[in-house]
Amino acid sequence: MIEIHKSSDDLARQKYDVLVPTMGALHAGHQSLIEIAKTKGKKVLVSIFVNPLQFEDKNDLKNYPKSLDSDMNLAEKAGADGVFTPTEDVIYPGTIVEISAGELGEKYEGKSRPKHFNGVLTVVKRLFEITSPKIAIFGEKDFQQLFLIKKMAKDLNLPLDIISAPTVRDKNGLALSSRNVYLDDNQKRSAQIIYKTLQKSNLDDMHKVLLDEPNFKLDYLEIIDENTFLKADKNTQNKRAIIAGWINQIRLIDNMPVSTKS
Ligand code: PAF
Repeated sequence: MIEIHKSSDDLARQKYDVLVPTMGALHAGHQSLIEIAKTKGKKVLVSIFVNPLQFEDKNDLKNYPKSLDSDMNLAEKAGADGVFTPTEDVIYPGTIVEISAGELGEKYEGKSRPKHFNGVLTVVKRLFEITSPKIAIFGEKDFQQLFLIKKMAKDLNLPLDIISAPTVRDKNGLALSSRNVYLDDNQKRSAQIIYKTLQKSNLDDMHKVLLDEPNFKLDYLEIIDENTFLKADKNTQNKRAIIAGWINQIRLIDNMPVSTKS
């Protein structure tokens, strides 16, 4: 039987090796994170907390999908030993000491979502403090988030390893996301343009592909160096294309390694 924890005192009596931080609305992408976590440590904890600090749009926060019962089932089936469902005052009991995501926190996702990454880093650091895992696992789908969390762990010398897990996609290549529930069938078809775009190996070809889908409104498309998150140049070894945009009001992001042969 999966254990349910609501407070930090409650958690202090347990020792979890691996933490899978989530905001709930769990899907097959989270399932894969939990399954990978289970191969890395004996006891896996899934946290479910919709962090108000990382939502600049309060309607987005209010409407964020919630499905606690099915989340519990999915977490248990995937092999989690515990679920941590704190309230806001457990995570932020006093004055909030916000972590800054620095310059990169204001680019790409951070440009459209000011302060978003400060909120992400702040909650992730609190979750690490409360749950003291040896390992924490994050999906590659939020590649800028993953980069910034790894950087924070290194900069602050946090005593844990950050592990990344590949993006899970549907049969048409659409990256799984809790926000996909907002897409109807036509919008899902339009969203396939993102995967098609990411198949190309240079920005010109990517932009050409995007012309085929007027329903996708591009926010940014860039090829970056995975190790620095700076724009890639001809010497970059590990290139990754990052993309974000909207279908109607629904924001979608994705990324994929780019062949260095181009
Ligand atoms: O990726 C997410 O679901 C969230 O940003 C995270 C890492 C759980 C922090 O709230």
